[in-house]
Amino acid sequence: MDKLTIGQADDWHLHVRTGSILKMVIGHTAKQFGRAIIMPNLKPPVTTVEQALLYRQEILAALPQGSAFQPLMALYLTANTSVDEIKKVADAEHVHAFKLYPAGATTNSDAGVADIEAAYPLFAAMEKYRVPLLIHGEVTDAEHDIFDREKIFIDSKLSKLTQQFPALRIVVEHLTTQEAVQFVEAAGANVAATITPQHLLYNRNAILAGGIRPHYYCLPILKREHHRQTLLKAATSGNPKFFLGTDSAPHLTGMKENSCGCAGCYSAHAALELYAEAFEQAGALDKLEGFASFYGADFYGLPRNSASVTLEKQPWTVPEAYVGDDIAITPLRAGEELRWRLLAA
Ligand code: DOR
Ligand code: ZN
Repeated sequence: MDKLTIGQADDWHLHVRTGSILKMVIGHTAKQFGRAIIMPNLKPPVTTVEQALLYRQEILAALPQGSAFQPLMALYLTANTSVDEIKKVADAEHVHAFKLYPAGATTNSDAGVADIEAAYPLFAAMEKYRVPLLIHGEVTDAEHDIFDREKIFIDSKLSKLTQQFPALRIVVEHLTTQEAVQFVEAAGANVAATITPQHLLYNRNAILAGGIRPHYYCLPILKREHHRQTLLKAATSGNPKFFLGTDSAPHLTGMKENSCGCAGCYSAHAALELYAEAFEQAGALDKLEGFASFYGADFYGLPRNSASVTLEKQPWTVPEAYVGDDIAITPLRAGEELRWRLLAA
């Protein structure tokens, strides 16, 4: 197959930051997707509907002229989140979810939740008002091996949470392990998951074999090959619980190529191309449309996009960096060739 037309896709997990980074990256996402859930881990975090609506305005103002892209906002859950704010989200047209970062799990997560049990009254309110909870599923205790953090979170936190709140709508974000896939498969229809392009295409060798490659370092960290195989199977299974969320996370090149480099892969420049490569590798290009364009919208209770997009087999080379006035971002696959190309709408 040399050409693939699918319904316009959405990105159910995206970081765009603010200011000059936002201006540099938002055009990439607006070309690729109709909508995206915008992560709230800014500094300071986006914790109220009012702040989210201001952030949304900044994103809309940064869009290329004529773009119909819609940012779907999410709030950052903290120990100080009120039940009142949860009710506000339930009624807000442009705010769609809360994001739970275990404190210390990743970029700008210091304000996250240190004691998940203490937040149970908030989960009860989300369950009652049908507000989705998006979860970064990793424990943060220093004694745990970084490659085990997701599995331990599932065993020690997530299984209790789903037992306690059986109707709570949950998206387990950026799955990386076989255990996470099995957990989501076994849970009710109210529990779904996103999968990133990097976790479908790479295992942990990409970060460490032949030298340290910081642009493959993200959290949760890439895992062993058998986990990648399981993720690929889940994404291409046609099971509507698994849908597209890039976790594209722009950091300045200098902050990645650093003695203490930031976590995050930037993939917005070629998101659908990267997913197409993974699905083709699995012999399942026919399953891309459900994963990329249908299941996420269905889970969030939003209409599917009416437009369509076309990918063509037309090799192109990803730039070494995207460069602005005083910033540079190194994208995933910098300087390398991609097989697929998304045509302009
Ligand atoms: O690699 C990551 N980068 N994982 C996250 O959870 C956050 C993200 C970011 O904001 O940079
Ligand atoms: Zn993220």
